[in-house]
Amino acid sequence: MPMPKIWSFGSINADHAYRVPHIPAPGETIAAREYSLGLGGKGANQSVAAAKAGATVAHVGLIGPEGLWAKERLAALGVDTQHIMQSATPTGHAIITVDETGENAITIFPGANRAFADAQLKALATEARPGDLLILQNETNLQAEAARIALKQGLTVLYSAAPFSAQATSEVLPHISLLLLNEIEAAQLNAAVGTLPSGITVVVTKGSSGADWTSPDQTLHCPAFPVKPVDTTGAGDTFAGYLAAAIAEGQSPEAAMRLASAAAALKVTRKGTADDIPSRAEVDAFLASV
Ligand code: RIB
Repeated sequence: MPMPKIWSFGSINADHAYRVPHIPAPGETIAAREYSLGLGGKGANQSVAAAKAGATVAHVGLIGPEGLWAKERLAALGVDTQHIMQSATPTGHAIITVDETGENAITIFPGANRAFADAQLKALATEARPGDLLILQNETNLQAEAARIALKQGLTVLYSAAPFSAQATSEVLPHISLLLLNEIEAAQLNAAVGTLPSGITVVVTKGSSGADWTSPDQTLHCPAFPVKPVDTTGAGDTFAGYLAAAIAEGQSPEAAMRLASAAAALKVTRKGTADDIPSRAEVDAFLASV
């Protein structure tokens, strides 16, 4: 039987990354030590991570008139790009500052990522098959509609509530199978709705404290892999993409969490985003070495 396909309904950004001595304070001007421009966006990063993990991934997204390079880059990284369309709105971009400890601060300009319309829902409605997976996050519009269509069609829906928005998250929650949050987002969701949802799987990543999986029938903790952080940008997206790929492969929650945690740990040791997400061979070698 063919492996389920992963549909990624997600953002595509041009990442402008600046290596800085510290994250600038309000009113402060500082000079960056390094600059790079590359493919990013939580959606694109998750697609690339899942593809690098070995899954078949179709990205549904929008670029602007000048964004063909991003579509080409995604294709070069192994993602099916036939459902990426061009809009009149410029491609999304992100301004990323990364400090000496690898910590980051990100400002996004959503651009085309928030111009999704019915055409972006069509592929899910007509081509996705029961058993496929949908991954999505909060950098587009229409996530709730996409999740609703997918769940109704028998897809497993994995949703990263990032960047956190109480309203967007509340709208998507009734239509998902698995909710993925970092610790801060989990606290924000708790504060907004009073409790974390039950009846679905909730995965909370906690950086150096590991990650927790809570489903109606199982609770498990996956310890973190200790690494020296260089750049945390895209680590959560790497976790999400690898977790989705492992679930598509039919791996157990323990094995899927271990694979996703290892991939995210390796990503943290590298500068950059989509291009710098580790390959499956690198993650397997890392796992074999620890
Ligand atoms: O999660 C990292 C991503 O957040 C970056 O690639 C940036 O584009 C923003 O979307």
